[in-house]
Amino acid sequence: MILITGATGKTGQAVIAALALRGARGLRALVRPGSQSSPAAKKISAQAEIVVGDLLDTDALTAACSGVHALYHICPNMHPQETAIGRKVIAAACAARVSRFVYHSVLHPQVESMPHHWNKMRVEEMLCAAQLSFTILQPGAYMQNLLPDWLTISKRGVHSVPYPPDTRLSLLDLADLAAVAALVLTEPGHSGATYELCGTPGLTQTQLAECFSEQLNRAVRTESISLNDWEKAARARGLADYAIATLLAMFRYYALHGLCGSPNVLRWLLAREPTTLAAFVQRTAATLHHAQ
Ligand SMILES: NC(=O)c1ccc[n+]([C@@H]2O[C@H](COP(=O)([O-])OP(=O)(O)OC[C@H]3O[C@@H](n4cnc5c(N)ncnc54)[C@H](OP(=O)(O)O)[C@@H]3O)[C@@H](O)[C@H]2O)c1
Repeated sequence: MILITGATGKTGQAVIAALALRGARGLRALVRPGSQSSPAAKKISAQAEIVVGDLLDTDALTAACSGVHALYHICPNMHPQETAIGRKVIAAACAARVSRFVYHSVLHPQVESMPHHWNKMRVEEMLCAAQLSFTILQPGAYMQNLLPDWLTISKRGVHSVPYPPDTRLSLLDLADLAAVAALVLTEPGHSGATYELCGTPGLTQTQLAECFSEQLNRAVRTESISLNDWEKAARARGLADYAIATLLAMFRYYALHGLCGSPNVLRWLLAREPTTLAAFVQRTAATLHHAQ
């Protein structure tokens, strides 16, 4: 049995789909109380047994880990209790004698000024001290983060970001991440490994807009918006205070340093070239075209 936490989120759904594609049997998805009849839960229930429980509920975690041999832990995005959740999930996995624990961390968790990175570093530290066989995946920013702005990019020709146009980020296709997650969950040989996962070298936001221009055959320019304007829009959307503060810290860090890694490890794990941004844009445009 393989347990996936954070299962209804975008990462969880991708990991479950990749495990099913690999022919993995016995998938169990931990779903938050109240979300078991959500469209995402219905979608993953075709491939995984649904168990309902809060990630902070020790009893629910104990029940979810029963009979589990491998666990993929995804903490909900921008969660203020990320380290408490990590501690509880690791304790439940140890108690259930889970023999393979894969932790979904982040690229450069050692950056203290980004709370959601630093909290993942603390969870990695707990794993080193736990009596568990573990693998850590450190993914860069997903290409799929661009999807909410797809219409603005493709129809208005504007790629809008709250950091300067020369900010470099390494991007990763979620499908490549999910393929690696499925691999390390189902194949031996990855115990004790920490894998940095990037699909591209650091790309500036200007290069990103150029790629969209070429692939969509229309002019796309990068526009920087101020952190104040971004915050006003985020508050209007009802984003929680912790998430807003954490994202602002991330944007300030990006503006100063970017977030860049290397595609080498991902290329080796996939035994092929990682998905390029151009391929992702082509694939997304084709998928959206067919859906119309
Ligand atoms: N986005 C990126 O570029 C990127 C890159 C590297 C790493 N990461 C990391 O990837 C992780 C997952 O991100 P994501 O975007 O896939 O997350 P997400 O879409 O926010 O999904 C989180 C899931 O956790 C569930 N959840 C929330 N609170 C819960 C609780 N108390 N108990 C049980 N389940 C709960 C949510 O359920 P509901 O559906 O009920 O809300 C949701 O299904 C984050 O830790 C993030 O830092 C992201």
